Amino acid sequence: MKVCRTIEEMAFYSQDARASGRDLGFVPTMGALHAGHLSLVERSAAETDSTVVSIFVNPTQFGPGEDLEAYPRDLEGDSEKLKALGTDCLFFPTPEEMYRDGYATYVTQERLTGVLCGVSRPTHFTGVLTVVLKLFNIVRPHRAYFGQKDYQQSVVIRRMVKDLDVPVEIVVLPIVREDDGLAMSSRNAYLSPSERNDAVCLHRALLRGRELIGKGEASAAAVVKAMRGVVEGSPGVRIDYMSVVHPESLQGIEKIDGAVVLAGAVFVGGTRLIDNIIVERS
Ligand code: PAF
Repeated sequence: MKVCRTIEEMAFYSQDARASGRDLGFVPTMGALHAGHLSLVERSAAETDSTVVSIFVNPTQFGPGEDLEAYPRDLEGDSEKLKALGTDCLFFPTPEEMYRDGYATYVTQERLTGVLCGVSRPTHFTGVLTVVLKLFNIVRPHRAYFGQKDYQQSVVIRRMVKDLDVPVEIVVLPIVREDDGLAMSSRNAYLSPSERNDAVCLHRALLRGRELIGKGEASAAAVVKAMRGVVEGSPGVRIDYMSVVHPESLQGIEKIDGAVVLAGAVFVGGTRLIDNIIVERS
């Protein structure tokens, strides 16, 4: 596996791959790789000629007081996992490399970034969009793979790619879950054993919402109330939001009469976790 640490090295690798007619797949990550990330790498390896994975804990997507310093880092373990999957290239830049002296340019987006996670993390998506666009410009992939766990992230990235005519195909793959349903996340590593037990209430709440819709409940308020009730049954867990939103606009809806996304974010102790389920109403 080729390891590129500078933008120039990475751009050269990509230019070379493209010049020899290879299709480039790209999986951007912040490392601490789990089965969810690896499912993206596997899909890219199956669908493209060369897979590039980036590991970069992007400082601009963390707000003040968030877990930038504590975010789990395991380059050695991650490299082993990537090599085992036949990853062709790892891009592992430093923050100084990505945001060079005098850095002053950011990507902002209207509407989609001010809801759901954007309410309690108002600068988060500007950081995500900025780094993802930079990574796309450096790696120049044909396809880029993201997980559905970060549902809002996938929607805002698709919007950016469309609005700014970025020549890349975005592929979003299903959430990979632990046996009890907890969505895989690098942040699960923060949970104590009792917090780990509590954390599954988020997924259970979403399942309860889906069950109600399946039984014919059309009031989003009733579904939200039921989902909140499940989370509130776990005293160590605090709700950031539990919402029923339109899959593309991400706006809250009142009457459920088509596909919706049930999305939630909770704090388990000091750890913020997110999850979602897409529900198709027939
Ligand atoms: O989903 C993530 O891990 C990050 O938000 C991403 C897309 C790698 C950008 O830093």
